[in-house]
Amino acid sequence: MQQVTNATGGPEKYTGRDMKTTHAGLKITMADFNALVEDLVKSLDKFEVPAAEKSELLGILGPLNKDIVTA
Ligand code: HEM
Repeated sequence: MQQVTNATGGPEKYTGRDMKTTHAGLKITMADFNALVEDLVKSLDKFEVPAAEKSELLGILGPLNKDIVTA
């Protein structure tokens, strides 16, 4: 969450390891990544997050697949 608030310009600074280092060697596939995104969309829908905010968040997280997907 700290990371998400940082990436979206929030007040919280992300102090963890970078995404490439963290997920290296985990053999995460595009299907794994997409499954996470689908679950996230379900949460956003459940809490009725408006389309604009939803696509803004997904637009920030989506490109992270290049650092996270390695298989
Ligand atoms: C946008 C997508 C994702 C984001 C923003 C994200 C973010 C993070 C963050 C912030 C951490 C902790 C980093 C730290 O230790 O400092 C982490 C760890 C981890 N993530 Fe992700 N993640 C994403 C996708 C995924 C996916 C798709 C998988 C697997 C299906 C995954 C598996 C893991 C695992 C196993 C760890 C623990 C690694 C370890 O401690 O050695 N992540 N992730």
